[in-house]
Amino acid sequence: MAQPWPQQTSELRLGVMASGEGSNFEALVAACREGPLRGRVLQLVVNNPGCGAQGRAERLGIPCELVDHRQHCSREQLDGALIEAFAACGVDLVVMAGWMRIVSPRLISAFPSRLINIHPSLLPSFRGLDAVGQALAAGVTLSGCTAHLVNTDLDGGPILAQATVPVLPGDDRNSLAARIHRQEHRLLPLAVALAAARLRDRTAAAADPSPPAGPPSG
Ligand code: GRF
Repeated sequence: MAQPWPQQTSELRLGVMASGEGSNFEALVAACREGPLRGRVLQLVVNNPGCGAQGRAERLGIPCELVDHRQHCSREQLDGALIEAFAACGVDLVVMAGWMRIVSPRLISAFPSRLINIHPSLLPSFRGLDAVGQALAAGVTLSGCTAHLVNTDLDGGPILAQATVPVLPGDDRNSLAARIHRQEHRLLPLAVALAAARLRDRTAAAADPSPPAGPPSG
């Protein structure tokens, strides 16, 4: 991972969404507690009762709210409940750490340039479901993971950071996914810091009244 770690001027307030095991959620909490990420995970939201992420939140002492998609009649309504959960604790950024649902424009526009996803492929290759299986089927020798900002294009938002792993002879879904997971755990905290730095730079540029530098006049 050649990407340098950006400078962090303040503690980030983070919300996390997870559907499954929650190993990325736990890696994010660890990066906040033990470094290098200056931040705090204030709220986890899960959509599957009893999922691994929920158990991890309990063990780690992170508030966890269940927003079950089966109790909501549309994506927009589900996303409305997510927005409420995160707005209640005033988060700066929301991280989809293995959120296995497509999100609606309602959630995306509630967190413009503040919604981050982690995907187990080198995007733009192998978007969507079973990215690891897709990579194996394609016979690639290099795979990895991508952290990106979320927009309405599925797995197509601006890339924040990527990490590569080799695909080894004899790899199956489990072995390759495990190798990718280890990189995700390092990449996701970095991507959060990079997203925060982008926001900071944009805000600073918008506040700067000086005209952009032109060519020398003499
Ligand atoms: C990760 O591989 C991530 O890329 C994908 O879902 C998986 C979540 O794993 N979106 P975990 O629940 O964080 O262990």
